[in-house]
Amino acid sequence: MSLPTVRLRRLRANPSTRRLFAETDVLPRHLVQPYFVVSGKGVRREVKPNYGLWQVSGDALLEEVAPLVKAGVGGVMLFGVPDTKSDDGAQLEQQLKPLTDASKALRAAFPELPLFADVCLCSYTTHGHCGLVRNNRVDNDATLPVLAKMAVLLGQAGVDWVSPSDMMDGRVAAIRAGLDAAGLSHVSILSYAVKMASAMYGPFRAAADSAPQFGDRTTYQMPAGNRREARREWKQDELEGADALLFKPALTNLDLIRDAREGSDLPLVAYQVSGEYAMLRATADAGLLDFDRAMNETLLSLRRAGTDVIVTYHARAVAHATKP
Ligand code: PBG
Ligand code: ZN
Repeated sequence: MSLPTVRLRRLRANPSTRRLFAETDVLPRHLVQPYFVVSGKGVRREVKPNYGLWQVSGDALLEEVAPLVKAGVGGVMLFGVPDTKSDDGAQLEQQLKPLTDASKALRAAFPELPLFADVCLCSYTTHGHCGLVRNNRVDNDATLPVLAKMAVLLGQAGVDWVSPSDMMDGRVAAIRAGLDAAGLSHVSILSYAVKMASAMYGPFRAAADSAPQFGDRTTYQMPAGNRREARREWKQDELEGADALLFKPALTNLDLIRDAREGSDLPLVAYQVSGEYAMLRATADAGLLDFDRAMNETLLSLRRAGTDVIVTYHARAVAHATKP
């Protein structure tokens, strides 16, 4: 038997050699932390301890975000949890108040922090669907002006990025036109280009109070098995003027992210959703794996697949573990 001449283990000999030849890394700058903004003062609660979903009021958000900024976290993404629900979008300005006030305060306190805000109706409507409902159907075209209005209100509050997560057709173009007409051409759009109708959003829906009250989201979110359809989705959003493309969930869509990396030059964002985080947490709590190592492995695989930025409930912990 001949001995091997090619020895891949030479590249793995010790930590400094492995570090020298690392092809991918995950740094605080790559990560975006989501927060759920509620009304009131002094609210800062993790919806379920250790599961990463933080509900905060505007004042507490400033304290929350300060260490993240210091650690160089890439940005924060805000979701509004309104006090009241309304089904026609007419109350939007008032419903958005906690979110727009918090955005203004964050913008003032941290002028250079990339600030993302979600654009969708599921938290704002009684039925919990992402668009307006007419005759028991989610009405695509009636929804578009409401989404555009929401984006404008958020842009006026100082967010840099609006992130439509509703999956209506044509919303990127409608939002772009609405922003531009309102003098907000500097506001960017991160479109949820490929968003699957996934079982993994459960913990989020509890935090955002956004679960559909009838039916499900399968008439607007994508079927998980469709690769060609996913390409059509992000190509369309690119065409309509999206500034960056988001994929969600993250780990189940690595191949689709790789497709987009090869077919588009836009920045790519992956959303490691609440259920993905919960899978790791619950498994670690059961004593079956090491949470930090498993988490790091998933984040690295996303970067390897071609992801630029990762929205993750883990960003906060990375920030707190980062030594200045
Ligand atoms: C709603 C929205 C969802 C998530 C982000 N925006 C849930 C859904 O579509 O029901 C999920 C995020 C997560 O699970 O962390 N537009
Ligand atoms: Zn929604």
